[in-house]
Amino acid sequence: MAHQLQNDYYNYKVVRQFSIAAILWGVIGMAVGCWIAAQLAWPELGQGIEWLSYGRLRPLHTNAVIFAFGGCALFATSYYVVQRTCNVRIISDKLAAFHFWGWQLVIVAAAISLPLGFTQGKEYAELEWPIDILITLTWLAYAAVFFGTLAIRKVNHIYVANWFYGAFIIAVALLHVVNSAAIPAGWMKSYSVYAGVQDAMVQWWYGHNAVGFFLTAGFLGMMYYFIPKQVGRPVYSYRLSIVHFWALIFTYMWAGPHHLHYTALPDWTQSVGMVFSLILLAPSWGGMINGIMTLSGAWHKLRDDPILRFLIVSLSFYGMSTFEGPMMAIKTVNALSHYTDWTIGHVHSGALGWVGFISMGSLYYLMPRLFGKAEMHSKAAIEVHFWISTIGIVLYIAAMWIAGVMQGLMWRELNPDGTLAYTFVESVKATYPYYVVRFLGGLLYVSGMVIMAWNCWMTARDGRAVQAKIPALVLNTPAHA
Ligand code: HEM
Ligand code: HEM
Repeated sequence: MAHQLQNDYYNYKVVRQFSIAAILWGVIGMAVGCWIAAQLAWPELGQGIEWLSYGRLRPLHTNAVIFAFGGCALFATSYYVVQRTCNVRIISDKLAAFHFWGWQLVIVAAAISLPLGFTQGKEYAELEWPIDILITLTWLAYAAVFFGTLAIRKVNHIYVANWFYGAFIIAVALLHVVNSAAIPAGWMKSYSVYAGVQDAMVQWWYGHNAVGFFLTAGFLGMMYYFIPKQVGRPVYSYRLSIVHFWALIFTYMWAGPHHLHYTALPDWTQSVGMVFSLILLAPSWGGMINGIMTLSGAWHKLRDDPILRFLIVSLSFYGMSTFEGPMMAIKTVNALSHYTDWTIGHVHSGALGWVGFISMGSLYYLMPRLFGKAEMHSKAAIEVHFWISTIGIVLYIAAMWIAGVMQGLMWRELNPDGTLAYTFVESVKATYPYYVVRFLGGLLYVSGMVIMAWNCWMTARDGRAVQAKIPALVLNTPAHA
């Protein structure tokens, strides 16, 4: 009987847990980002203390922001969306709880092992094999809950946001298992099963699809649910969303070699990577346009709704970085951009602008609903957060673009006799002011995140943990979810 009663309600607990975790890890991961940004400007910081050194904390930053902040935001929103659009409670509370606590354990293990210097040396896949196994187990639990919930849905149609979340779950499982295959040589030491150029290829097949499926597909799931909800209109073109889905997932898988231009990788493979990257512009922009056009006829809402502004501006950054990416994938452009801070600028226009803003907008939408409030504690604070972070992003990426192009040009500049015009250290010296500006940009961005944490805390404090009843009347359209 109790079980029956419980099934009349959505499970908001796990959504609340992941939402709060996302905000906490966001503050921490971005603070570490600021620390390493400061070290690049003032290298003497943390000298002599290994676990405070740049080499150990850089992977901590990337893991914390991608998998802890981004991951928890994806889990929170996907659990919310799959329940609301399927009109059922998740299939298993226990598995979802295992997913939450298992993932937190992974994060804590990363936060301890990376500063201690344990690493597989593969970017975004640094964690050693015991932690990789824990990731696999938690991921399987997540997949079982998500797809199990879809299977018991009370609505015929599977809303498009779930397709994107589903692709994210399947692709990340595949990428993680294949790329992390390793032979253990002790509790915290292992060797990749791949060697040489195959290892590089597998790694960047993983790395690029981590961008495509972790940092993009899941967040597109957020876009397809939270933008229509916040605007109060259905998505601009449902047909386009289906074309968007299939085109995007088909194309992303082939673009990885653009990370390995001018390396020992066979030349034709590099060209395949370049061509697929150029094609990727089309589905990416198709998706962006679909999201932005959902606002058509309601543009005025942008004027006084800061949450909507987060969601829509995130799409402008998505459009920017998915235009820039294909350009950087062209071999002759990559000859200039590779190894420079241009890449870092590109990464953070995607990460801060797209991933960060769409998550923040979605979490602002969720928090009052999870805590039984009509709206966030302070709208003015959301407004301040939006502007402070936007200025932060602009400072960060503009500084990195200028620094990157400058570095690329300095490194290739030749004297008439064919010798290099600049020594490497001259380019480092010229980059110094841009590193300071980037640090300031990062500081503004993380300050916005702290304001958000405060605002969410106040909202939760004034509210109470809500039990939301599943509507008895099933309207067979997701717009009502
Ligand atoms: C306060 C905000 C942030 C600051 C100050 C910051 C700073 C940095 C710094 C200094 C680096 C190393 C750059 C280098 O090697 O030259 C870095 C790398 C990176 N950051 Fe951030 N970051 C921030 C937020 C984020 C967020 C929110 C994400 C993702 C959601 C992110 C993803 C990454 C990635 C993927 C890299 C590796 C880039 C590469 O290897 O090309 N960062 N960040
Ligand atoms: C059409 C879409 C995109 C394409 C074709 C693309 C292409 C590229 C290229 C060519 C590079 C430089 C590789 C190198 O020289 O080493 C790169 C780096 C990167 N991009 Fe993108 N990009 C796209 C979208 C995005 C988005 C939306 C994000 C983030 C949310 C992102 C995150 C990254 C990261 C993290 C790296 C650095 C990888 C590393 O070296 O560690 N990209 N991308």
